[in-house]
Amino acid sequence: MEAPRSPMLLLLLAVLGALWAGGNTFETHIIGGREAAPNSHPYMVSLQKSGSHLCGGVLVHRQWVLTAAHCLTHPTQLLRLVLGLHVLGDPGLTCHIRQVVLHPEYKPAPHLENDLALLKLDGKVKPSKTIKPLALPRGRQAVAAGARCSVAGWGVTHQGGQLTRALQELDMRVLDARMCNNSRFWNGDISPRMICLAAYSKNQAPCKQGDSGGPVTCSRGQVAGILSFGFKVCTNIFKPPVATAVAPYTSWIKKVIGH
Ligand SMILES: *[C@@H]1O[C@H](CO)[C@@H](O)[C@H](O)[C@H]1NC(C)=O
Repeated sequence: MEAPRSPMLLLLLAVLGALWAGGNTFETHIIGGREAAPNSHPYMVSLQKSGSHLCGGVLVHRQWVLTAAHCLTHPTQLLRLVLGLHVLGDPGLTCHIRQVVLHPEYKPAPHLENDLALLKLDGKVKPSKTIKPLALPRGRQAVAAGARCSVAGWGVTHQGGQLTRALQELDMRVLDARMCNNSRFWNGDISPRMICLAAYSKNQAPCKQGDSGGPVTCSRGQVAGILSFGFKVCTNIFKPPVATAVAPYTSWIKKVIGH
């Protein structure tokens, strides 16, 4: 059974999908996740359109946010970045986006690749207890199979349901890329610059709409990946969620930020 994959798109698509499918196929949430301790992820950003959460993002510098390129489908002037949030809707620091830089080799769905974008804030944020950049990986190698990681996001927590109000997190491990790429799994769609993730229990998954663009952290204090795509049925163990590895892109990121 090789159904086409579905990128983790926007909440709107999730809602439409749930309506079309009678709410059955877009089971899109961090199932089995837990509420994060308030402000334990001070680098976490909510990308919003008209006050609605679209995607996650990661503050990687006082003036730059790293997210998934496929999240940037709306005109920039309609988008805002909200920093320093734990519960969606709480007052946070809302910033306009001064500049959007998609990765020059970004390929949209159905064969998503290089799914990264950098968003420049309209000013430099002052680091605080609730707002603090997360460091880039030091090496150039993507995280190795078996590494213990965690993902975080505000995506919906029940199929056809609403966005989570409080930030959720879930522990995951990195799958072997060759296995993830084989014909039973993603069948050739996994590039060497992607990370496939698996939950520890088969009833858990971060495939929720609204989680795209959010961080995968494996070693403390560093962003290892940015959530990119999953499958319609998120607990399908043969279609594990996939993130873009950040390490292979650090020179591009530093070049953009340095300009
Ligand atoms: C997955 O398979 C495709 C197609 O054969 C290949 O281009 C790609 O490099 C493979 N990815 C990995 C991680 O080996």
